Amino acid sequence: MKLCRSIGDWRTLQGPLSGGTLGFVPTMGALHAGHLSLVRRSRQENAATVVSIFVNPTQFDRADDLDRYPRQAEKDLALLRQADVDAVFLPAGEEIYPDAYLYRVSESDLSLKLCGAHRPGHFDGMLTVVMKLLNIVRPGRAYFGEKDYQQLLLVRGMARAFFIDTEIVGCPIVREPDGLALSSRNQNLDPAQRRLAPSLHHVLQESMDADAARVRLQQLGFDVDYVEDFNGRRLAAARLGATRLIDNVVIQEPSS
Ligand code: PAJ
Repeated sequence: MKLCRSIGDWRTLQGPLSGGTLGFVPTMGALHAGHLSLVRRSRQENAATVVSIFVNPTQFDRADDLDRYPRQAEKDLALLRQADVDAVFLPAGEEIYPDAYLYRVSESDLSLKLCGAHRPGHFDGMLTVVMKLLNIVRPGRAYFGEKDYQQLLLVRGMARAFFIDTEIVGCPIVREPDGLALSSRNQNLDPAQRRLAPSLHHVLQESMDADAARVRLQQLGFDVDYVEDFNGRRLAAARLGATRLIDNVVIQEPSS
């Protein structure tokens, strides 16, 4: 597994890796089985796989969330070595933002709804870094989880809008046995919050409609940002203490 700590390192490696299709999995590290499912899928579908680890400051709307974001580079590298990835791209902040974020990608509809209504600037920061990473890595396919369903739709929309020559592949949500969607932020839950957290998934699945789900989550002690039905899915974001959880389920058609 090759480590590329700069764009220059990556450019040197890129030639030898570009013989077949290149699969790319962008991450912010603190890797778990959800990330590794994307890596596995990329390994199945491409001749080589590159993973990026970059905690992107521009997509954090709160400084405390950026500070609290788990960082565990050595553990991540060991997991990626085990998963047999070909290269890891770990750029420094200055390299990704030579313009100090004067230039950015902005979407003016979906990015303002759902999570976007509660995290100003989040999706501009996310789209901008994904555009930069796709332009550096130039993969044939890039892999994104349905856990961040709004993110997946926005990245797909951006790729289409800017004629980016990368297929955006969506991958299913990986969950704990009790139903909680895997997330790097789950590490920040205390034991009582961790016991309550899977209810987010169960309530989304079992409620009659989005309003009923919101009320039930509030009764259980979640601080709910939103529950909304969109594009055949029920999506939600809710906080337990300082930890913000998101999840979504496919809306089941009522059986007749
Ligand atoms: P991060 O939260 O590290 O997630 C990286 C990728 O892993 C995303 O595509 C996310 O949807 C996927 N993922 C996370 N948890 C998952 C789960 N339980 N099941 C399936 N997939 C899961 O998302 C980001 O980083 C950033 O916004 C990024 C795209 C890297 C841009 O900075």
